[in-house]
Amino acid sequence: MKRKFIETTDGSTSIYLEEMDEHYHSKHGAIVESNHIFIKNGLLPKSGQEEILVFEVGMGTGLNVMTTLKAAKDHQLKINYHAIEAFPIQEEELEFINFSSLLEMDHGLFLKIHAASWENENLLQSNFKLTKFYSKLINLKLHAEFFDVVYFDAFAPEKQEEMWTEEIFQKMFDALKPEGILVTYCVKGVIRRRLQAIGFRVEKLKGPEGGKREMCRAWKDE
Ligand SMILES: C[S@@+](CC[C@H](N)C(=O)[O-])C[C@H]1O[C@@H](n2cnc3c(N)ncnc32)[C@H](O)[C@@H]1O
Repeated sequence: MKRKFIETTDGSTSIYLEEMDEHYHSKHGAIVESNHIFIKNGLLPKSGQEEILVFEVGMGTGLNVMTTLKAAKDHQLKINYHAIEAFPIQEEELEFINFSSLLEMDHGLFLKIHAASWENENLLQSNFKLTKFYSKLINLKLHAEFFDVVYFDAFAPEKQEEMWTEEIFQKMFDALKPEGILVTYCVKGVIRRRLQAIGFRVEKLKGPEGGKREMCRAWKDE
């Protein structure tokens, strides 16, 4: 599918897929959305831990890796980050993405994320390990009770229904440690009920500034 690079309201890059009529991020600010949903409400609740294990569904542009790297620096966190991507961004597309300058981060780190080898642990910096899986989520085997946080950043359910099934949510539930968290921008009733049916306790939280009114956080209670 042809990727069209666009600018969102906070100045950060996103991608629009014409064939699917779908964006990678909120048009109201990709960085604002990432910081609110994944960092503030997913990662930071776990900031008291010695090390935080993160799993991201749909690494795409690498924005959530970048905001997590920034949070690791700002809050002195140690992160072990895993991400899956079935349709990676190509090297020649990276020049269209402006996250490093807006986040005031080393552009070399951004390039390292995308150059990191698949299926291996890559040390991006002393407090940050990255393992990328080049696979479809349905085919990926994950360790049981391994992750603290799942960033669930798939395309919307009306565009890619197979990412939002009970089977997929059960996979996420099993891969989370007790007290683990799954965060997503999607708050549709049918999706929340599906998460609850698996055993998650589901909360609706305020959405990012200027974007969707609400977001969803699901807990795997002990
Ligand atoms: C909403 S975008 C994610 C945006 C990404 N987190 C970012 O910050 O750029 C959804 C991502 O899921 C990927 N994807 C689509 N189908 C997938 C699948 N079956 N398994 C894994 N990733 C998939 C897409 O290629 C896309 O990068």
